[in-house]
Amino acid sequence: MKMSRSLVLALSLSLVLGATALAADAATDAQALYLTKCASCHGKDGSKSILSKPVKGLSAEDFTKKMMGYKTKTYGGSKKAGMEKLAAALSDADIKALGAFVAKL
Ligand code: HEC
Repeated sequence: MKMSRSLVLALSLSLVLGATALAADAATDAQALYLTKCASCHGKDGSKSILSKPVKGLSAEDFTKKMMGYKTKTYGGSKKAGMEKLAAALSDADIKALGAFVAKL
């Protein structure tokens, strides 16, 4: 069967739109996750530095390295226990999405 050109166009357009919607969802989820689970200690914009170095200014890569470090207990300072628990409760996908969010703070 030969598909008409407009059908192919419509199909690819819906794929693109679907992917954009998914990406937008991930961004919204990361923001909600950050605001509910992280902002109390790190500040809404990530600049609070009472408890730790500010998370604002971290690249997505550095953020992910540090969070994976807490998760695998290979990173942290004297107050790392709480972060180890928090990081352990996050999926790798959550950490990745949070990294993209934090990098833009
Ligand atoms: C109860 C307070 C608290 C909450 C909530 C919290 N953190 Fe932390 N965070 C800390 C403390 C304290 C440290 C420093 C720990 C240490 O000694 O390594 C820290 C360190 C970090 C660091 C490492 C900073 C650096 O450069 O060394 C990152 C990244 C981080 N937190 C991300 C998060 C994220 C993401 C969340 C939400 C899922 C979160 N934190 C929630 C208290 C908190």
